[in-house]
Amino acid sequence: MADMIDFNSDAAKALERVYLTPDVVGQRARVLSELSLKRGDAVIDVGVGPGLLAHDMALTVGDAGNVAGIDVADAMLAMSDERCKDLPQCDFRKGDATALPFDDRMFDALVSTQVYEYVPDMDKAAAEAARVLKPGGRAVILDTAWDSLVINAGDRGLSQRVLEVWDEHLAHPNLPAQLTPILEGAGFTVVRIEMIPMFSPHYHTHSYAAGMLRMIMNFVSGRSGVSEAEAKTWYDDLIAGEGRGDFFFSLNRYMFLAVKK
Ligand SMILES: C[S@@+](CC[C@H](N)C(=O)[O-])C[C@H]1O[C@@H](n2cnc3c(N)ncnc32)[C@H](O)[C@@H]1O
Repeated sequence: MADMIDFNSDAAKALERVYLTPDVVGQRARVLSELSLKRGDAVIDVGVGPGLLAHDMALTVGDAGNVAGIDVADAMLAMSDERCKDLPQCDFRKGDATALPFDDRMFDALVSTQVYEYVPDMDKAAAEAARVLKPGGRAVILDTAWDSLVINAGDRGLSQRVLEVWDEHLAHPNLPAQLTPILEGAGFTVVRIEMIPMFSPHYHTHSYAAGMLRMIMNFVSGRSGVSEAEAKTWYDDLIAGEGRGDFFFSLNRYMFLAVKK
């Protein structure tokens, strides 16, 4: 797992840009709605990242509430601290999803978007999520299923190699398909699972698709047998699809609502 993506590198800034695209802004609104936060609630964001969701949650719970956030990456914590510096109800700390630095049953709700797929010991992370929630507390968890990616690559053999190497950027490339028994084993009832498509039938520079294709190229370049030239050929061919009229990008994320028994 030493080769997984490094959130303290330039990846942190690149990720923030992707998370400001309309695709991900829409996703955040759905997550916030699924959380059903009330004023005064205490919520924890596991893997708070650039703090975009934490900021929105802080406005929802108000100054009588509390938004805790943990992350393993200093670069991410610096972004969330800066984004929420005028919101005293926010408390961001360095910490790992498998050892949350909080007492038992402290939170009304827990959220973790695009994080658990990077956590090798998911049973432990799910047990920690259950531990810090009050009985009846809600958890909203969102992750990507990379097997659902559909793109229109000219060289399918090269594309398959690129995507196999991209799978090395995280611990669980298809976590949504495996998550229900993990959550139920930790003491949750899974109430609902919804699909959130990241779908671009056209290429736009300010889109999730554009940002991710760039991140994939950068990650695989010179790694595990994919040369820099091959990575660039793969990327350039996909982007040229817009001019040819055959650009296509479709990838599914899945949002789980689970309640602690
Ligand atoms: C793809 S980003 C998502 C950030 C944020 N949740 C969002 O959706 O905007 C993944 C985040 O998970 C953090 N992360 C990865 N492994 C973690 C772990 N074991 N414990 C806590 N955070 C972790 C990374 O540092 C990074 O900030």
